[in-house]
Amino acid sequence: MKIIVGKRVKNLPSLWYGPKRVCFIDQRLLPGRFAIYEARTVRSVAFAIREMVVRGAPAIGAAAAYGMALAQELGQDLQKAALTIRATRPTAHDLFYAVDLMLAAASEGKSVAQAAADFVERTVEQCRRIGEHGARLIETGAGILTHCNAGALATVEYGTALAPIRMAHNLGKKIFVFVDETRPRLQGARLTAWELLNEGIPHAVIADNAAGHFMARGEVDMVIVGADRITASGDFANKIGTYEKAVLAKENGIPFYVAAPTSTFDPCTRDGRGIPIEERSEDEVHMVGRTRITPQGALAWNPAFDITPARRYRAMFLEPFGILASGPPDDAKLAALLPGARELLEELSRTGLHIGLIADCDSRQLDRMLRRLGIDSFFDSRTNAREIGAAGPDQRIFRSALRKAGCEPRQAIFVGSSMEPGIQGARAAGMTTVFLDAGMSRVELEGADFVASSPARLVKILVELAYTGVPAD
Ligand code: MRU
Repeated sequence: MKIIVGKRVKNLPSLWYGPKRVCFIDQRLLPGRFAIYEARTVRSVAFAIREMVVRGAPAIGAAAAYGMALAQELGQDLQKAALTIRATRPTAHDLFYAVDLMLAAASEGKSVAQAAADFVERTVEQCRRIGEHGARLIETGAGILTHCNAGALATVEYGTALAPIRMAHNLGKKIFVFVDETRPRLQGARLTAWELLNEGIPHAVIADNAAGHFMARGEVDMVIVGADRITASGDFANKIGTYEKAVLAKENGIPFYVAAPTSTFDPCTRDGRGIPIEERSEDEVHMVGRTRITPQGALAWNPAFDITPARRYRAMFLEPFGILASGPPDDAKLAALLPGARELLEELSRTGLHIGLIADCDSRQLDRMLRRLGIDSFFDSRTNAREIGAAGPDQRIFRSALRKAGCEPRQAIFVGSSMEPGIQGARAAGMTTVFLDAGMSRVELEGADFVASSPARLVKILVELAYTGVPAD
């Protein structure tokens, strides 16, 4: 990212690795002071995450990966390092995703430093692509509101919400950014404004309470925010205050977008109710800088994040899928899914995953899409549907299909849309099961490993499985 310190212009990521240290731009000090914080132990990496030397979901994912690399380089126990890092901040999924990825690399005898470098490179590339996709939706003259800091500081490079803004500006589109100050840690006022200033992007910091005023006056054309955790249902957690901005945007007919890389997506959490919300010190609310603004004895509450339900936003830029519209899928939306999904599915085929598919008429559309994507679907939904339905919880039909496909149960995913007994049978055969609840079925399904609320979300779950491997029984 471009950084201007005095008269000098630098180009630096928000954090980097090695040798035997993790270096961070110290975000606690910006914009007043520019300094680098060096962590030479896993404990000081954990300190940097907890105390917000580094913050923003993808950036703390990168910090976690580098922390694990440091542990290996120092010859330390990786499981202990994982515990220390996991105990820092609970909400952003990226942190847990990165730790798991590094443990998996180590268990395969790989260099964790290399795995961390690959992970960070992939995240940076995904952010770049969020910029490309998102910039297409930004018209010249647009007023764009953003909350917190979802820029390069929060992601290593480019940003998530700020990536389309950077890209649109670089394409010569005349835009104006409304920067929510974002009490209590002031990430918008301190960090987003600093990044925009360095890039020469026109903006104004506004008090959090002013967003509705500017929306109602027609000055805001779109809202883009980042995310800390996106669930299977599409509900997502982001900085406290995001939810009310989404409600205000809906009230004023303003499109609201959320942007994130793969590591933010948590398909194992069904919806927003399952996201742990970090409670930070009440002093962050009592104090502004060194000045206490509340009377001694007053209580303060300080949830760091809130949940925005899937129905409250128009679309998600989730890499590597491109733009995913929320709401029920149709052919156009599925088509929008294709470019990103194809790469993902290449990755799927490298992992040796197969997908057994069975469906009613709704997921025949899904079947078509998966075939177009070249997914190995070894149940034909048209011919096998009745057979599977009749087989019920009997696992024999699955075992014989797996044998024919030359596929281990652990390599296979069964997707069912309304046939609970089929899912039970597939599970008994040792397959991973996904229940596709696209609104067609009202079956209250017990026992599926994952629930997808639309075909679009199903593809995301499959992709996530490809990255993290089929979970153990
Ligand atoms: O508490 P923070 O500053 O880590 O919270 C950060 C946010 O809420 C960001 O909006 C989110 O992590 C997305 S960053 C690309």
